[in-house]
Amino acid sequence: MGASIWLDGRLVDAAGPHLGVTDRGFQLGDGIFETARARRGVVIELDEHLRRLHESADALAIHLPVGEPDLVDGIRSLLAAEGLDGSGRDGGTVGDAALRITVSRGAIAQRGLLPPGVETIEPTVVIQAWPYAAPTAVILERGLRAIPSAVRRDPLSPLAGIKSTSRADYVYAKLEAARAGADDALFLTTTGELSEATSANLWMVTGRRLATPPPSAAVLVGTTRTWLLGHAAALGLEPVEADVRPGDLLAADEAMLSSSVAGIVPLTGYDGRSVGAGRPGPWATKLREAREDWIDAVSRSAVAS
Ligand SMILES: Cc1ncc(COP(=O)(O)O)c(C=O)c1O
Repeated sequence: MGASIWLDGRLVDAAGPHLGVTDRGFQLGDGIFETARARRGVVIELDEHLRRLHESADALAIHLPVGEPDLVDGIRSLLAAEGLDGSGRDGGTVGDAALRITVSRGAIAQRGLLPPGVETIEPTVVIQAWPYAAPTAVILERGLRAIPSAVRRDPLSPLAGIKSTSRADYVYAKLEAARAGADDALFLTTTGELSEATSANLWMVTGRRLATPPPSAAVLVGTTRTWLLGHAAALGLEPVEADVRPGDLLAADEAMLSSSVAGIVPLTGYDGRSVGAGRPGPWATKLREAREDWIDAVSRSAVAS
């Protein structure tokens, strides 16, 4: 993160202090967030991220205190202040950034999950920006190795597809991966289907079939996932949402993970065994490049228009 953040309508020093201890984001993880990529000052799939932010807010009855124009304005001013808007002040030329919008329910002194008056408090809204860091060359060359998490996802949970800041399950799964010497963990559902990784959706290629677990497998419906479902056919694959079990993953030709910031990253190991040939396959490379090219093209044309 850089020198500034955007907090409740204005740019402030990133060093803080910003929040009181009674903020429910701190006390309870009671909030929602989005992470996105920006290039040349253009937020990639902005509408999709804002739509999901609203869906998460609605699910948790968090009233967004700023409208979209103010959020967009906040993102623009933050990217400009950080030299991440493509002006070249980041040392590069295109302004590649990772963004996070976080909204907590706000601060309230009373204890309890829903104390009286909680519906009247003002949510806290923060935007942060970082220079974009692609996955390391080591990860792109050897692929990610994942383990199954002991945490199971419940497909019937109303929160399964919500991007809430209550992330203890995900942190726990990442700890499991780190302890096992792996890069990431995959969640299984309570019924034994594969769901997703700790911050990315899961894909596997078998022949020309590109499969990803459906929303009913308790996945976050990722913006990159939606992009892949829409673009894979033009790239020569048959995209499909399908229930997949660990045996399907281990039998696939190759696999990958997708997310807005990391992009499409090969997955070459699961549970101590090789996925596909145990090294990044041709589709992972092709899809990653196609997505990066698309990001470059949409940001270029948005700047030109
Ligand atoms: C749990 C989880 N699944 C999937 C994704 C991928 O979503 P997107 O492609 O919108 O970044 C994320 C992104 O942060 C995530 O946290």
